[in-house]
Amino acid sequence: MKVIVLATLLFAAGIGQVSAQMMARGEVKFNACKACHQVGDNAKNTIGPTLNGLIGRKAGSVEGYNYSEAMKNSGITWTEMDLAEYIFDPKAKVPGNKMAFTGLKDKQAASDIIDYLHTFDKAPVKLRQ
Ligand code: HEC
Repeated sequence: MKVIVLATLLFAAGIGQVSAQMMARGEVKFNACKACHQVGDNAKNTIGPTLNGLIGRKAGSVEGYNYSEAMKNSGITWTEMDLAEYIFDPKAKVPGNKMAFTGLKDKQAASDIIDYLHTFDKAPVKLRQ
């Protein structure tokens, strides 16, 4: 949703092709997550769960992934706002969760990553083989 709104705004401002550039930027920023998370057609749960279809999904719900109790019981259904908070400071957002990541303090980078993750909204969540 945010991607579409932004793209529309930028387009209206006469800057074509920006949304593709934004996607590319998000993909690069996603390198911060890639050591532990996969997205895309053949994504599998690795150190962390696959992030396909993340926005709108209940936290701790990818089948076959061994979540912490903290994540399973967080009561979160991931929105952009939850994600922004979690990426900024995972331990503060979900105390006791096991994501060994200190947080990304660059809010623009976090926002780019969230936009990038939106491109996997419709992809089915893959289960561990
Ligand atoms: C060092 C490995 C590591 C890195 C780097 C990492 N994560 Fe994670 N992530 C995990 C683990 C492990 C979990 C499972 C947490 C739990 O069960 O407590 C997780 C869980 C998550 C979840 C919850 C998923 C769900 O199904 O509810 C999200 C969202 C997430 N990570 C996003 C990110 C993003 C975005 C980045 C990059 C900015 C990132 N992570 C970087 C290891 C990592």
